[in-house]
Amino acid sequence: MSELRVVSSCRELVSVIADYRKQGRSIGLVPTMGALHAGHLSLVERSLAATDLTFVSIFVNPTQFAADEDLDQYPRPLEQDLEKLSRAGADCVFLPDVSEMYPGNCTTSIEPPQVSRRWEGESRPSHFGGVCTVVLKLLNLIPADVAFFGEKDFQQLAVIRQMVEDLNVATRIEGCPIVREPDGLAMSSRNVYLSETDREIALSLHRTLASVAEQVAQGETDSHLLMAEMRQKLIDSGVSRVDYAVIADPTTLEVVEEVEGTVVALLACQVGQVRLIDNCVIAR
Ligand code: PAJ
Repeated sequence: MSELRVVSSCRELVSVIADYRKQGRSIGLVPTMGALHAGHLSLVERSLAATDLTFVSIFVNPTQFAADEDLDQYPRPLEQDLEKLSRAGADCVFLPDVSEMYPGNCTTSIEPPQVSRRWEGESRPSHFGGVCTVVLKLLNLIPADVAFFGEKDFQQLAVIRQMVEDLNVATRIEGCPIVREPDGLAMSSRNVYLSETDREIALSLHRTLASVAEQVAQGETDSHLLMAEMRQKLIDSGVSRVDYAVIADPTTLEVVEEVEGTVVALLACQVGQVRLIDNCVIAR
């Protein structure tokens, strides 16, 4: 196993990439904000299996956080993250600081595609602009053959796929399945903020999705009825707020009237101090 190379400057990164490119090696990129868990590491494993060299970026991107969000409190356990990446066998970690990614004269940003407007875009209006800007910068710095993103952030994946298509980015985007705790809770860096009681309530997200999938399997196709039930189940189980609970087309993310072919059930809830999202792709 080769040693994990840590790069913090864009200038060094460009020369590292040029060296690898000369050797004709394929590159995989896994963008993250750190506080790595098994969900992140599953993306690293996919990259290790599919490409010659795996780059992971760790950057808590300020432009995707609104002023009232948890940028300052976002967990940053750097030593443990490096240890995990080293053990996983990643080749290189890019660890820029904020001034390296956004020098004072950096004022350009990306207008995210249409698919960003609903759901997360309504709850967090500036979020996807920040995500698109940082992901495009990362793809320009690390022009990977493949970049890996989790289906946990289903809308983010749809937004990035569309941006890459719209702006002719050469990197192929690969979506990877959601990794869950044994009890079904989708892994998230923010789960550490859940109190014991809230952790129990948070299980209702996955249970609600499982129950929609079950109802569809039994022949229910009325998506408005299913959506009303999703919302009710979440409220009954004690979440503090439901931002959305919808059944949508997996590409456009627009609500479907009937469950036909493949759809995605998407939801976002506030549970105590934590806002959680989850989803489930359902094929009929
Ligand atoms: P972050 O939340 O750290 O997630 C990094 C990647 O890990 C994303 O592609 C996300 O979908 C994936 N991921 C998180 N939890 C997962 C799980 N339980 N199973 C599978 N994959 C999971 O998403 C971001 O960072 C940022 O927005 C970023 C894309 C890095 C841009 O700043």
